[in-house]
Amino acid sequence: MSLAATCAVATAAACTVEDRCVEPTPTAEDALAYLGQRYSVGPKYLTLPAPSRAQLEAAVALALRSPDHRGLRPFRFMRVTDDQRDRLGGLFAADAARRGHGATEVARARERAHNGPALLAMVARVRANVEYVPDHEQWVCVGGGLMNFLNALHLMGFGAKVLSGASVRDAAIQAAFCDAGETLVAWIVTGRPSRRSHAKAIVSDVPALSDWVGVRFDSASTAEVPGMPRTSGHASSLRRPGAKCPRCPPVAPP
Ligand SMILES: Cc1cc2nc3c(=O)[nH]c(=O)nc-3n(C[C@H](O)[C@H](O)[C@H](O)COP(=O)(O)O)c2cc1C
Repeated sequence: MSLAATCAVATAAACTVEDRCVEPTPTAEDALAYLGQRYSVGPKYLTLPAPSRAQLEAAVALALRSPDHRGLRPFRFMRVTDDQRDRLGGLFAADAARRGHGATEVARARERAHNGPALLAMVARVRANVEYVPDHEQWVCVGGGLMNFLNALHLMGFGAKVLSGASVRDAAIQAAFCDAGETLVAWIVTGRPSRRSHAKAIVSDVPALSDWVGVRFDSASTAEVPGMPRTSGHASSLRRPGAKCPRCPPVAPP
């Protein structure tokens, strides 16, 4: 069951204002299953309506629940309203022209500013030399914020896609969105999906979750660890007590 469609009556053509719709209360399982179906929806498959300002604010509120060491809030979102799309299109076109593209590609770049019923920019502010909060922790917070933002939109029945491309690296476009020390992370296009999206191929064969089985030894680490055999080890071999090194020749029995 999808959370965005818990009420079949409300979305059915036969629904009238007199209908008293009793929506089933979504369970945690419903929420998990529905979140598990979030896939990116490209601008071609996004239709009106766009999320309202209030819906975007709700999504931003959820984005702000990203784990944020010392409360630095290292990101913000900016909506590009419809009356500003031409302006952004001019910046996209100028960027494409600067990169040496011909008239067709420049026109395409200009058109990209009109992609999606709603268009937002995500801007990061990752500060250097913050005590206890290295850059990577702040970037993790930015990523968490982006994910929560997408999940919130998804729960409200909107599709979305995060896009960057060369435009986010253009100095004039960055200057139009960012203050000093900020990074233009990406564009987010969003609207009602006109078709179901699907999973993209997963290329990594490294399990996303595994149980830690021991200490990873390398040649610099020969310290004794309680319960672990002392070994010179290999850079990437994970050792369990008594486990054989996959790269060492088998040891002849005594
Ligand atoms: C910061 C950022 C920038 C991205 N930029 C692009 C892009 O320019 N073009 C693109 O096709 N996908 C881009 N992606 C990836 C897509 O948004 C999307 O995540 C990917 O196609 C996988 O689809 P999924 O979200 O359904 O798993 C970007 C993702 C992130 C996080």
